[in-house]
Amino acid sequence: MPHMRRDSWTMPNRKNIIAVTGGAGFIGSNFIRFYLRHTRTGEVYNIDNLSYCGRIENTLDFRDSPRYHFIKEDITDEMAMKRVFAMIKPDTVINFAAQTHVDRSIKDPRPFLETDIMGVFNLLEANRDNKHLKKFIQISTDEVYGSIEKGSFRENSPVCPSSPYSASKLGGERIAHSYHVTYGMPVLVIRGSNNYGPFQYPEKFIPRNVVRLLSGKNALLYAAGKNIRDWIYVEDFVRGIMTVLKKGRPGEIYNIGGADERTNIELLGAILSALGLGKERISFVKDRPGHDLRYSISCGKVRALGWRKEVPLSRGLKETIEWYKNNKSWWKDILKEI
Ligand SMILES: NC(=O)c1ccc[n+]([C@@H]2O[C@H](COP(=O)([O-])OP(=O)(O)OC[C@H]3O[C@@H](n4cnc5c(N)ncnc54)[C@H](O)[C@@H]3O)[C@@H](O)[C@H]2O)c1
Repeated sequence: MPHMRRDSWTMPNRKNIIAVTGGAGFIGSNFIRFYLRHTRTGEVYNIDNLSYCGRIENTLDFRDSPRYHFIKEDITDEMAMKRVFAMIKPDTVINFAAQTHVDRSIKDPRPFLETDIMGVFNLLEANRDNKHLKKFIQISTDEVYGSIEKGSFRENSPVCPSSPYSASKLGGERIAHSYHVTYGMPVLVIRGSNNYGPFQYPEKFIPRNVVRLLSGKNALLYAAGKNIRDWIYVEDFVRGIMTVLKKGRPGEIYNIGGADERTNIELLGAILSALGLGKERISFVKDRPGHDLRYSISCGKVRALGWRKEVPLSRGLKETIEWYKNNKSWWKDILKEI
């Protein structure tokens, strides 16, 4: 993987047990890879139900580490969560597990409410009496703020989610926060902007269009492609999580974004030109219902903890495209779905 720094993130506690949920998905697997490479101690328990986007292939390069353990369970299963957490009693929980695709949430919202709200509730309940717990980090999204025409949202801005996905994510993070206020649990919330990079399931904008173009299909663009998103390379996001893990304060929310805003049509133009293709390879499709125009977050709070983004979109995009070019076997069986 590119851009690995030699930092040590060693945590000064007990056996330092960290429970990562959704660690077979895109960001979760990148987090575990980074954590195992950049720390010397600490046991990672990855709890994932291997849903359609959770892929054991994402864990192949670290699954033999003696510090890594995989538990196939579903966070919506209350009893299973109680059993698992009574056994591992982690010092840290980082909850990545979620239903994550906005379009799927529009077609069928129920699994989003079940996983992104009730799943979080089960994790909180399973850890309410965990005396070892020092941090419970709920990974949320900038989509909870809703759209903003000018300027950027801060952590204390009003929230106004538009899709069943973002509304469920807000429900989950607010339940988590209530456990801090009510029961004193050390809950922190991270609101991330659009991540991209290796191992992202190709239903999301960048990998979907890259693999479609690589396999001779046209790229797909909603409406005129004027929606604006803020892009962050996954490893920068992971470094942000490490910073919050080390220095964040329970009860707080931290925005982590890339400050690399692009319209979708600009971004697709960059993908096409990196692949040496022209605009005739774009198929415009009917807009997504309730499509937010622009997301933008200000990240001064996490920067005040020492975090800095390291990978500009121009470089991260190039490396991401290379990764998909070099890992066709990872995505070729998914192609018919997208
Ligand atoms: N990808 C982004 O751009 C982005 C941006 C901001 C926030 N987030 C948040 O970050 C987290 C991770 O996102 P991602 O892009 O890696 O998602 P992903 O869809 O790639 O991975 C989700 C993982 O969660 C697992 N999972 C789903 N339901 C589960 C359940 N009921 N029990 C156990 N495991 C379950 C899946 O198997 C998968 O491994 C999510 O909470 C998402 O809302 C993502």
